[in-house]
Amino acid sequence: MQKEFTDNFMLELEDLQREGNLRFLRKIETHNNRICYEGKDLLNLCSNDYLGLASDQVLQDRFKNYIASNALSMASSSSRLLTGNHAAYDELEEQIRSDYSAEAALVFNSGYHANLGILPAVTSKGDVILADKLVHASINDGLRLCNADFVRYRHLDYNHLERLLKKYCDGKRRVVIVTESVFSMDGDVADLSILVALKEKYGALLYVDDAHGIGVLGENGLGLAEQSGHVADIDFLVGTFGKALASVGAYVVCSEVMRKYLINKMRTLIFTTALPPVNLAWTRLAWVRCKELKDERDHLKKISNQLRDGIQGLGAETCGDSHIIPYIVGENVACMNLSEFLCKRGFFVLPIKHPTVPKGTARLRFSLMANMKETEIAELVEGLSLKQ
Ligand SMILES: Cc1ncc(COP(=O)(O)O)c(C=O)c1O
Repeated sequence: MQKEFTDNFMLELEDLQREGNLRFLRKIETHNNRICYEGKDLLNLCSNDYLGLASDQVLQDRFKNYIASNALSMASSSSRLLTGNHAAYDELEEQIRSDYSAEAALVFNSGYHANLGILPAVTSKGDVILADKLVHASINDGLRLCNADFVRYRHLDYNHLERLLKKYCDGKRRVVIVTESVFSMDGDVADLSILVALKEKYGALLYVDDAHGIGVLGENGLGLAEQSGHVADIDFLVGTFGKALASVGAYVVCSEVMRKYLINKMRTLIFTTALPPVNLAWTRLAWVRCKELKDERDHLKKISNQLRDGIQGLGAETCGDSHIIPYIVGENVACMNLSEFLCKRGFFVLPIKHPTVPKGTARLRFSLMANMKETEIAELVEGLSLKQ
């Protein structure tokens, strides 16, 4: 590369370093809820393995038995539209479809692929997408690829959303409401009952990304959609396998017509190599196992409340109502210091800083796992109290 290009890139990286925003890849090892980092063995408070399924022995044994009697390739070697649509896709999609009692399900390579591809496929010029201000980066990237216009409503402000619906729903254009279920930075939760009522009142479509709800919420772990009783009311119900499901990939639950349409129009499904059959088989077994983990879901809720109450008891700011618990520190540097302090006490939690979150709201974002003990949470709260 020419030197002037390299110099420019280097300058940008130096700016990021100065601002404390340089990203880098850590050398880590994880097992269960522990993480080994810089020679220290720490409680991992940054994982999305909410149920501890990644190290679940029952699942590991079932998978070993399954692959011992089923020849499954490590490669798919092609797009799903060509020769990559192995029978393991049908089995997984049928499992998901029937568990949700839905018309259809379609699996993708990742949540990023799903969020990047669905909205551009189902909207066109003249349509309008109304998205919560705090939806995930992958949805934002999908919005940029849409020919439709998009407008953001204030976070969880459904009065604002209704004003926008009144303005845009004229019966001529498609209007899609887009939300996450459990928001990944604040841990707060969308009100699906209000959103469903609004979508019905104004004739809009509803898109819900349940990435952080799946596995954790609902009697069978089918997410906020199950917990709120609104599976059938959501037009695009997206979930991911990379978090509580201990795998990789994503799905949408939708109508049969919509499934056919996406297979024809969705570029991030069509123009990418399919997932390996062995991975799809693992995901299906993880999905089945996940439904059985009701006690883990209950325990996760209990320790989440314990931590939230503990933080509030210290007079510190937190928000939300889920297993993602922010501890709002304020300035970036103070947040980084607190993260380092907790690391010395045996806790791994990374600072989330401006510009990822609004200025003055830098935070530690604790994401809890069901295999953590109440005593560990109590020690964490004690650690936080020493920095008050
Ligand atoms: C709300 C949300 N949606 C989608 C994604 C992307 O999912 P994946 O990791 O499967 O690409 C994430 C991942 O962080 C997420 O938090």
